[in-house]
Amino acid sequence: MFENIKNNIDFFIRNKTKFSRKNFVEKNEEKLLHNYLENLYTFDILEQCLKSSNAENAFILDIGSKNWYYAKGEYYFFKSFIKKPHMDGVELDAYRLYSNLYSRYETAKFYIKDLKNTNYIAGDFLSINKNYDYIVWFLPFVTKKPLRHWGLPDRYFMPKKLLAHAYKILNPNGQMLIVNQSINEAIIQKQLLEELNIKYTEKGIVKSNFLEYKNDRYAFIVNK
Ligand SMILES: C[S@@+](CC[C@H](N)C(=O)[O-])C[C@H]1O[C@@H](n2cnc3c(N)ncnc32)[C@H](O)[C@@H]1O
Repeated sequence: MFENIKNNIDFFIRNKTKFSRKNFVEKNEEKLLHNYLENLYTFDILEQCLKSSNAENAFILDIGSKNWYYAKGEYYFFKSFIKKPHMDGVELDAYRLYSNLYSRYETAKFYIKDLKNTNYIAGDFLSINKNYDYIVWFLPFVTKKPLRHWGLPDRYFMPKKLLAHAYKILNPNGQMLIVNQSINEAIIQKQLLEELNIKYTEKGIVKSNFLEYKNDRYAFIVNK
């Protein structure tokens, strides 16, 4: 209970003040190298899971983008077969501050700065009503514990409602990729998909040689 009260207060304050230092630039070579690998990892996982299609334009949504550290990997994967990708990333807690006093929002601006038609949206995914051809959803909260740990108020814990909304705004013939960490979260994700009668393909554990994570990651693909 105490954690939820604290999260409510902190979340309220950062969304009111939107405090951040401005114009973040990453200069640390080690972090830039890690970012490079994370982008290659992202490209690789998307390539293993999603089918390409030769489109002139396509609208892509990344849900829960954090600081959109991996945006380049996503962008260049879609750019490899779509002439003009339009990419949105939506993040509820965009004004969360890092210890360097830059917010996720300011940090994301740096990671997407060279990507055409790419927007970072600070807000709740539920308020997005545009339709998308591709939805990418890395590590949704399917249990309350990580949501609290990440500083969000309990009222934002609604995995089923979010999944139903994601399916609703996915265009016919669209594809959605959901990646969960650990078998426990994958089991819950599967239950949610089944409760909502959403047809999916279970890809199982997905891995890339570019980066390794402590917890196994499991992918689900939804073709509408
Ligand atoms: C576990 S993190 C994953 C972050 C990122 N996708 C990654 O793979 O590093 C989940 C993210 O989803 C965001 N989130 C949770 N509920 C959301 C909502 N309703 N709308 C937008 N973002 C949300 C959280 O604030 C958090 O940044």
